Amino acid sequence: MFSTTAKIGILGGGQLGKMLCEAASPWDLHTCVLETSADCPASTVCKELQVGDFRKYEDVMAFGQDKDLLTIEIEQVNTKALRELEAAGKTVHPRPAALEIIQDKGLQKQFYLERELPTAAFELFENEQALVAAIQEGRWKLPLVQKARTDGYDGKGVAILRRPEDLDNKLLQGPCLAEVLAPIRMEIAVIAARNANDEVAVYPPVEMDFHPEANLVEFLLCPARISPLEAARAEALAEQVIRAFDICGLLAVEMFLTTTGEILINEVAPRPHNSGHHSIDSAVTSQYQQHLRAICNLPLGDTAQTRAAVMLNLLGEAGHKGPVRYEGAAEALRIPGVYLHLYGKKMTAPFRKMGHVTITGHSSEAALQKAQQVKKLLKVIAQ
Ligand SMILES: Nc1ncnc2c1ncn2[C@@H]1O[C@H](COP(=O)(O)OP(=O)(O)O)[C@@H](O)[C@H]1O
Ligand SMILES: [Mg+2]
Repeated sequence: MFSTTAKIGILGGGQLGKMLCEAASPWDLHTCVLETSADCPASTVCKELQVGDFRKYEDVMAFGQDKDLLTIEIEQVNTKALRELEAAGKTVHPRPAALEIIQDKGLQKQFYLERELPTAAFELFENEQALVAAIQEGRWKLPLVQKARTDGYDGKGVAILRRPEDLDNKLLQGPCLAEVLAPIRMEIAVIAARNANDEVAVYPPVEMDFHPEANLVEFLLCPARISPLEAARAEALAEQVIRAFDICGLLAVEMFLTTTGEILINEVAPRPHNSGHHSIDSAVTSQYQQHLRAICNLPLGDTAQTRAAVMLNLLGEAGHKGPVRYEGAAEALRIPGVYLHLYGKKMTAPFRKMGHVTITGHSSEAALQKAQQVKKLLKVIAQ
C-alpha cells in the first residue's frame, strides 16, 4: 500500500523515530508520533505529535483510533492496547504477539530453544535468590551472565558475574535468567526486513565494538571483518529468525561469533537499530526507508552497501550534565566522508546517546582510522 494520506502511527519519538520520520518525508508519508515529551527528537520532523505515554493502555488506545498503520521505535510499549487495535482491524507491525516474546528476554530465549535456533544455554529464575541458590548447589558455576527478563537496554539489565564477590555487589534484583558466558570472538548484528508478501531482504553483517566502560557500542564497522562464509551464515540465520517470529518490518539480530566458530543469537530488536544507522549514508536503501517499505508492504529495497562505513555513537562526556554543546564539529566536518547526525536532545548526560557520525572510506579499516580521529575531535559537553 502506498498512500500519502494513510496515517502511520509511531510509538516513540526518540532518535529512531526521528530518523524514521525523516525517511518518510521524501515520499510525503503521514507520520504521527506518540511520545511523552513535546520536544522529543522526532517532534521537528513528524507530521503530527501526540503527547502521551506509549507504555499506557489508554494513551496507546486513544492514539491508535485514527491510525491506519501502527509501528514502534522502542519495544517497551503497551501490547495489550496494540492487540486490541489489531483485533479491531488496524495493521500493527511488528505483530504484538511477537513483540511480547521479545520484550521478555526469558520468553525470547525459550523461543530460540523451541525453534532450535542457536543461542547460549540458559535457565530462567524467579528472582536473584533462586539464582544464588543454584550457584550454591553447584548447578551453575561462575562466570555466568545474569540478565533481567524485562526493561534492559544498553547493558543496563545485564551483569557478568565472574567472582563470588560479584554476587554481593553486581547481582540484579527480580525475575532473571542465567546464561553461559559465550567465548566471543566478535559481536555482530544483521538487520533483516520482511513485508506482508513474505519477501525478505538482509543487510550485510556489521561488527560492533563496545565502549569498555559504558557497555554501549562505540564503533560499528560495516562490512564486519569476517569471512564471506561467516557473513553468509549470519545472513541466513537472520532470515530464519525473522521468518520464525513472523514479523513485518525490520528485525535486528544481535549475534556472537565465538572462538569455536559458532554463531549464537544474543537478542533481537523488531525495529530500526543502532547497528543500521550507517545505512543512511552507505547503503542503497537506508534501514529507515526499508522499515517503511516493509510495514507498508512495498517492494523491499536493495540492501547492498555503496561504500564501507564506520558508525560512531556520540555519547555525552563523562562528568558533563546539562544543556548540550558540541565541541569540534567544524574540525570533524573538514575530514571527507564524515556525516554528522545530531538527535536534537537539549540536555546531555554521561554516556547519553546524543547523536552519531557515519564515516565512509574505501574499507572498514580506512574508515575506522578516520573515525578514531573524529572521536578525538568531537566532544559532547555541557555548556
Ligand atoms: N551470554 C553472553 N556471553 C558473553 N557476553 C554476553 C552474553 N550476553 C550478553 N553479553 C554481553 O553483554 C552485552 C549486552 O547484552 P544484551 O543481552 O545484548 O543486553 P542489552 O539489551 O543491554 O543490549 C552484549 O552485547 C555482550 O557484550
Ligand atoms: Mg544488546
